[in-house]
Amino acid sequence: MKPFTISVATEQHRKYAQEVSDALAEAAKGRGTGLAQRSAAYIDEKISQGKAVIALYKEELAGFCYVESWEHERYVATSGLIVKPQFRGHSLAKAIKKEAFHLARRLFPGAKMFGLTTSLAVMRINSELGFVPVTFVELTSDTEFWKGCEDCQYYDVLERSGYKNCLCTGMLFDPTPKQKEWKRKKSSSLSLEDWTPPTQ
Ligand SMILES: CC(C)(COP(=O)(O)OP(=O)(O)OC[C@H]1O[C@@H](n2cnc3c(N)ncnc32)[C@H](O)[C@@H]1OP(=O)(O)O)[C@@H](O)C(=O)NCCC(=O)NCCS
Repeated sequence: MKPFTISVATEQHRKYAQEVSDALAEAAKGRGTGLAQRSAAYIDEKISQGKAVIALYKEELAGFCYVESWEHERYVATSGLIVKPQFRGHSLAKAIKKEAFHLARRLFPGAKMFGLTTSLAVMRINSELGFVPVTFVELTSDTEFWKGCEDCQYYDVLERSGYKNCLCTGMLFDPTPKQKEWKRKKSSSLSLEDWTPPTQ
């Protein structure tokens, strides 16, 4: 991996806000599915609040991600993940997402973490972090969050499903014992050692 520096963004990184916003806009054009557009002012605010992770290659912006909380901090999402095209394929997104995951857990320890994505790369990263796929009813009902989908060309699909499903996969990390218990039971029930074929 190239020698990237990955850290929680601080005041000195505010100068990258416009470039991050532009990179998100550029990536959205290429993807066809929704990638929330964020203004430079919004990115700047996230940096100033200590809620963003930045990756640099020397002094060059390589990647970015920020943390958002919803429903009075009951839910938290790491959003706006972007790796500049020339730096992709070096596990950089994975490293940024992990850093953002730990930042979100530090800032909002009791919150459920969730994400919406069509990106296989992000699904892989999230699964590794302990997220599981869920229908949207498991996610936040904060209308401000869902407003972020309004720019997406599939917004009508979301509306028609009553905000239950869309093209994105919803993924949830629940820090409460409930999910941990479910995951434990699921992994133990996956064993086929004790399975016997049904008798006719
Ligand atoms: C998605 C994105 C962040 C991935 O960045 P990256 O640094 O190349 O990703 P990584 O190298 O960390 O890859 C992470 C995992 O995803 C896999 N992966 C990466 N790109 C992939 C792709 N296009 N298709 C399928 N899998 C992919 C990698 O193999 C790796 O999986 P592994 O650990 O099982 O090998 C980058 O392509 C990007 O910025 N895209 C545009 C913006 C975007 O889609 N953001 C996500 C919004 S939800």
